[in-house]
Amino acid sequence: MQTKLKTLIKSLEKTRHKYWNIDHKTGQFLNLLIKALNCKTVLEIGTSNGYSALWLAEALTHTGGHLYTMESNKKIRYPLAKENFKKSGLKNISLILGHAPEDIPTTPKKFDFAFFDATKHEHQDYFEILKNRIKKGGLIITDNVHSHKKALHSYQKTLKSLKPWESTFLNIGTGLLLSRKKA
Ligand SMILES: C[S@@+](CC[C@H](N)C(=O)[O-])C[C@H]1O[C@@H](n2cnc3c(N)ncnc32)[C@H](O)[C@@H]1O
Repeated sequence: MQTKLKTLIKSLEKTRHKYWNIDHKTGQFLNLLIKALNCKTVLEIGTSNGYSALWLAEALTHTGGHLYTMESNKKIRYPLAKENFKKSGLKNISLILGHAPEDIPTTPKKFDFAFFDATKHEHQDYFEILKNRIKKGGLIITDNVHSHKKALHSYQKTLKSLKPWESTFLNIGTGLLLSRKKA
């Protein structure tokens, strides 16, 4: 990772709680996963100030891929993310001011990887609109399944019961659910 980007990531960690960012370890894990799976097209729902997106987009510079990241907060977090992406020098990010799931159709048809980190009770809706837009063998990673156990209970149950999907819990950060669409 370039020094300039490392410095930006480190500086954003000072306000991590204010902007509900994932932790450093989760960022490293997602970054490594995208590189290991050679993902090209990634969608994030819930950009906030862009911290997690920097980890995702950095990984995509190694695979020649592109990040689409969606944020609904027009006044504060969307402009902050825009500014942080400019500072990062990364050219492979499309920041979308929009509300999922309604605005997901403005993004490309198929994704290798999606990261859900927005309003917990809407996750089922994100999944419904995206399930046919994740490539076979592709992944959905859902954040906060440990910290928001109750709010994400039925979502987790649904995903675990669906035959075309296999899911497992990973105790990193606030808890990740890894769901793979079977090939
Ligand atoms: C937990 S924060 C995201 C943190 C970010 N992924 C990170 O780790 O740096 C959740 C963000 O999702 C946004 N959000 C909530 N519901 C949304 C929706 N339906 N569509 C788009 N963004 C949404 C919120 O405004 C908030 O900024």
